Amino acid sequence: MASLAVFLFVQLAYAYQYTPVDDVQNAYDYVVVGGGTAGLILGNRLSQDGTQSVLVLEAGKSGDAVKARIDTPDATYFDTLTNTEYDYNYTTVSQAGLNNRPISWPRGRVLGGSSAINSMFSVRPAEPEISAWHDLISNMDGADWWTWDSLFGAMKDSETFTPPSSDLNLTYKDTAHGSDGPMQSAFSDFQTKWTPLWKPALESVGVAAFEDNGAGETWGGVVVPSFINPSNWTRSYSRSSYLDTLPSRSNLVVVPETTVTRLNFEDLSAHSVSWSADNGKNGTVQVRKEIILAAGVIASPQLLMVSGVGPADVLDGAGVDVVLDLPGVGQHIQDHLLLGLYYGTTGSDMQTLGDYNAGGQSTPAFRAAVNNAIAYVNLTMLMGADNKTSFIESAKGSANAAMSSNSTDVRTGTKALYDKTIELFEKTYTGNVELMLNVMGTNSIGFQVALQHPLSFGGLTIQSDDIRTPPLIDPAYLVHPADIVIMREGVKAARRLAASQPLAQYLETETSPGTDIQGDQDIEAWIRATAWSQFHPRGGCVMLPREQGGVVDGLLKVYGLQNVRVVDGSVFPLDMATHTQAPTIGLAEIGARILSGETPGSSSGGGADGDDNTDSDEDGSLKASPLFWFSSLLAIFVSFLL
Ligand SMILES: Cc1cc2nc3c(=O)[nH]c(=O)nc-3n(C[C@H](O)[C@H](O)[C@H](O)COP(=O)(O)OP(=O)(O)OC[C@H]3O[C@@H](n4cnc5c(N)ncnc54)[C@H](O)[C@@H]3O)c2cc1C
Ligand SMILES: *[C@@H]1O[C@H](CO)[C@@H](O)[C@H](O)[C@H]1NC(C)=O
Ligand SMILES: *[C@@H]1O[C@H](CO)[C@@H](O)[C@H](O)[C@H]1NC(C)=O
Ligand SMILES: *[C@@H]1O[C@H](CO)[C@@H](O)[C@H](O)[C@H]1NC(C)=O
Ligand SMILES: *[C@@H]1O[C@H](CO)[C@@H](O)[C@H](O)[C@H]1NC(C)=O
Ligand SMILES: *[C@@H]1O[C@H](CO)[C@@H](O)[C@H](O)[C@H]1NC(C)=O
Ligand SMILES: *[C@@H]1O[C@H](CO)[C@@H](O)[C@H](O)[C@H]1NC(C)=O
Ligand SMILES: *[C@@H]1O[C@H](CO)[C@@H](O)[C@H](O)[C@H]1NC(C)=O
Repeated sequence: MASLAVFLFVQLAYAYQYTPVDDVQNAYDYVVVGGGTAGLILGNRLSQDGTQSVLVLEAGKSGDAVKARIDTPDATYFDTLTNTEYDYNYTTVSQAGLNNRPISWPRGRVLGGSSAINSMFSVRPAEPEISAWHDLISNMDGADWWTWDSLFGAMKDSETFTPPSSDLNLTYKDTAHGSDGPMQSAFSDFQTKWTPLWKPALESVGVAAFEDNGAGETWGGVVVPSFINPSNWTRSYSRSSYLDTLPSRSNLVVVPETTVTRLNFEDLSAHSVSWSADNGKNGTVQVRKEIILAAGVIASPQLLMVSGVGPADVLDGAGVDVVLDLPGVGQHIQDHLLLGLYYGTTGSDMQTLGDYNAGGQSTPAFRAAVNNAIAYVNLTMLMGADNKTSFIESAKGSANAAMSSNSTDVRTGTKALYDKTIELFEKTYTGNVELMLNVMGTNSIGFQVALQHPLSFGGLTIQSDDIRTPPLIDPAYLVHPADIVIMREGVKAARRLAASQPLAQYLETETSPGTDIQGDQDIEAWIRATAWSQFHPRGGCVMLPREQGGVVDGLLKVYGLQNVRVVDGSVFPLDMATHTQAPTIGLAEIGARILSGETPGSSSGGGADGDDNTDSDEDGSLKASPLFWFSSLLAIFVSFLL
């Protein structure tokens, strides 16, 4: 015991520390902009073999001051960090499809980014969605990275999955999961009595039960794991998994409270970034090799634009000198639109998590209980096979309704994305609507409905050359007429589910929208008046051919620039029926492999480190840190003396 204690103490003394901005050097090989979900993965991986110096600049704080609120999973519902200084609090422009309401778009502003403030659902896209992505770019360099096998492998490699305890009667597939990656994925030992009712109720409305959402087939009902560490029931996010687990690493410098204000170019090569720190200081740092944007769906395209890379008319309007006219920057943005139906509940032993929380229950496993029962349902389930056929036929003819840009390139790309999206409507194993059981209410159960493959495409533009002025964000919710029909049928499906056994016996009156909302017109009006965001925006720097409004190629490089890549949720070309964290993690792992000069397939089956070094998964480059070895040997030596 004593030896273990000393060992741990010495290890902790050398655990990874972030760096104050005053200690930043003049130049680094790689500068990663944004220490969020993707950014910290890149920082870890690029510094792993010890040969490259890597700087990660993060606008937000470390999060240490709110550690318990980040770590405690159910705080995401009962003590949220949204709408605090750890959230950018973005809002969209008024949405014509939603009665001109602006919609709130939270994004994490802290080390770990949105993975530090999100709801921890560990959900993956379906195989046909990644194949559709591959089809769109199949002639491009690097296309082979963007296949189901490659992304699935990367998501698995990033994961350590802990199976649920057997008395919970939850299902999973071993082959869907990883066993030695940095992200922890698990089920809370505490599940409400609602959990076992979910799949049987779905089956009574014709939705099959699925064993596991993670293996490429996502149609059907399933209870999913969460990004939670079961050893102490804490949130697993990019900081806890990819940074806190590292020993000190002299070639990795992570700096919070420092906003990158622009990239500086000479010709089309970026030589430095300018930053502005919370301590009032400004500066620039030189980059020897590449700048990697990992600032997320909003800030990555915004940073390109304030730096002179984007649609020339938008840059002119904001008073920014044009470095490169690239019309796709900020375009092809979509989001999952969401709303909820709510019911009163009965039965004293049928409490919701909100009830338990109100009652002050606080075991760690209980505090790790979060929403986790979901189903992706297809158009056949939503409207019947005959209606589905005619619905798809009429949507095929109305691509123009999807367009949000006048650029010919962007419109060509939107048409390609539109057609691929409609192809997905006909595929098995992916759904158009996600249904989610919400057990967070007090004496109330919710059924949330979220549109997964919208046909409306939006975008964002800058209104100022200052990165701190929020851009104008327009996801164009429900602009295409097919989208409201699918949402409306989703609402009806949620009602059928609530009326089915074994759930129905425990539900009382529908409190929202209420039983007087019945006809199609009423339901549509209710959607327009109340729907909000599932917080899954995507796009803005999409991977597509340049002549289709693409911003990055298959190797994540920005077209036309020498040395800038984008590696975050802004590069996904298509909306997918998934929550967006797991694919973003897979994308970042692949981005790091590309930057390390690997080729697709060369690291399959290995640990999270790829092919070298397989026994150093969680703490990364042991060989890069002599201090770590020294401290370990010292600890062992000292413990023998005790
Ligand atoms: C409230 C909420 C709940 C969600 N729930 C889930 C869920 O349960 N499951 C799921 O799978 N997904 C969920 N998501 C979505 C998921 O979290 C995101 O898709 C994912 O984390 C995005 O990763 P990213 O790396 O693209 O961006 P982020 O993680 O947002 O990282 C971007 C980082 O860049 C930093 N940055 C931005 N601008 C600058 C700048 N100029 N200079 C320096 N740094 C900058 C930001 O501060 C941030 O840290 C949720 C999102 C939110 C907001
Ligand atoms: C978000 O809003 C909250 C509450 O109004 C505020 O305290 C916080 O500073 C805002 N965040 C940012 C980054 O401005
Ligand atoms: C366990 O779950 C399966 C469905 O996934 C169900 O058929 C079975 O009845 C459940 N067993 C118990 C003991 O609840
Ligand atoms: C939870 O456990 C992990 C290791 O398993 C550790 O890194 C982390 O610091 C722990 N978190 C807390 C809050 O104890
Ligand atoms: C730092 O730069 C910002 C604009 O990016 C400016 O508003 C501020 O005054 C500058 N501060 C100093 C100390 O130069
Ligand atoms: C499906 O078709 C029937 C008639 O064929 C019609 O009454 C019904 O409204 C249609 N439903 C949808 C969702 O289009
Ligand atoms: C496209 O052009 C029309 C006509 O000039 C204009 O009214 C509209 O605002 C433009 N749309 C966009 C998205 O720029
Ligand atoms: C869609 O869902 C139905 C159940 O409602 C299922 O039987 C069918 O196989 C699915 N169809 C496709 C094309 O995925």
